[in-house]
Amino acid sequence: MTAKILDGKAIAQQIEVEIHERAAAFEARTGRRPGLAAVLVGDDPASQVYVRNKERACARVGIQSHMHRLPDDTTAAELMALIAQLNADPAVSGILVQLPLPAGIDPTPILDAIDPAKDVDCFHPQNVGLVSQGRPRFLPCTPHGVLQILHRSGISAAGKHAVIIGRSEIVGKPMALMLMQKDSTCGSSAANATVTVCHSRTADMPAICRTADILIAAIGKPKFVTADMVKPGAAVIDVGINRTDDGLCGDVDFESVKEVASAITPVPGGVGPLTVVMLMENTLRAAEWQAA
Ligand code: GUN
Repeated sequence: MTAKILDGKAIAQQIEVEIHERAAAFEARTGRRPGLAAVLVGDDPASQVYVRNKERACARVGIQSHMHRLPDDTTAAELMALIAQLNADPAVSGILVQLPLPAGIDPTPILDAIDPAKDVDCFHPQNVGLVSQGRPRFLPCTPHGVLQILHRSGISAAGKHAVIIGRSEIVGKPMALMLMQKDSTCGSSAANATVTVCHSRTADMPAICRTADILIAAIGKPKFVTADMVKPGAAVIDVGINRTDDGLCGDVDFESVKEVASAITPVPGGVGPLTVVMLMENTLRAAEWQAA
C-alpha cells in the first residue's frame, strides 16, 4: 500500500479563502480590520521564520498585523508593559507572544497576562480550561489544524483509536482533549475517538502505536516513527518540524511509513500551514466577539 499524501498546504489555502470572506464581511460591517499583534523577542532564526509566515498569512486573509520585534535583552517588566498596552488597544483583536522566549524570561506570567479574550494561541489557563470542559472560546492552533486535516480529508475519528506521541502543553495534551470530545466543536467533526497518549516514560511504545487507527507524532525527534510502529492502513499525522544536517524533517520516517499507512502528512507542507491558518481563524473569531 502507498499512502495518500494529505496536502496540508492545499487544505490551508481552502480555509484561507473562507477566512478571507469572513474578514471582508467583518470589515464591511465594522469599518476596520481584525488585528493580530505578534511579539517576537530576540533573534531565534526559526521563530523569525514562523512570525514572518504569520505576518504574510495576515496580509493574505485581510487581517492587520501589528509586529513588535524586541531585542534579546528585553526585560520581563518591559514585556509585561507591552502586553498591558496591547490588551487595552481596541485595534488589537488577538495577541501572540512567540515562544521560546529568551532564557531568563519565564513565559508563564507573560502568557497569563494576556487578556483571555485576545489569547489567540489558546495558552491562557482560562482558555485551556474551557477546551477541557468541551466549551472552547478558542481552539489551540496546531491540534485544531490536525482535526481540520482529518475532517477535510474524510477521515473520521469517531470510534477510532487515536494514539498521540508526546504530551506537550501546546500539542499533545490539548490534542488528546479535543480528540476525546463528545460533540463536534467549532465546526470540526473529528472527535469521539478513544485516545492514548504516549510519552518518554511509556513502556513498549511501538506495541501501543501499532494499535492506532490514527497515529499523531508530536515529540520533536527526527524520523522517530518507523514503519514497524504503524498498523497497515493507519492514518499518520506528523506534527514534528526538525532541523537536521540533511534539512527539515518530521517525527515520522516518511519514506518507510508511507508504504504502510493509508494516509500521511508530509513535512513540510502538512500540519505546519494549518497551524498558521487556525491562528488567523482565532484572530477573526476574537474580533467578531469583541465587536458583538
Ligand atoms: N512556538 C512554537 N509553536 C508556537 C505556537 O504555536 N505559538 C507560539 N506563540 N509560539 C510557538
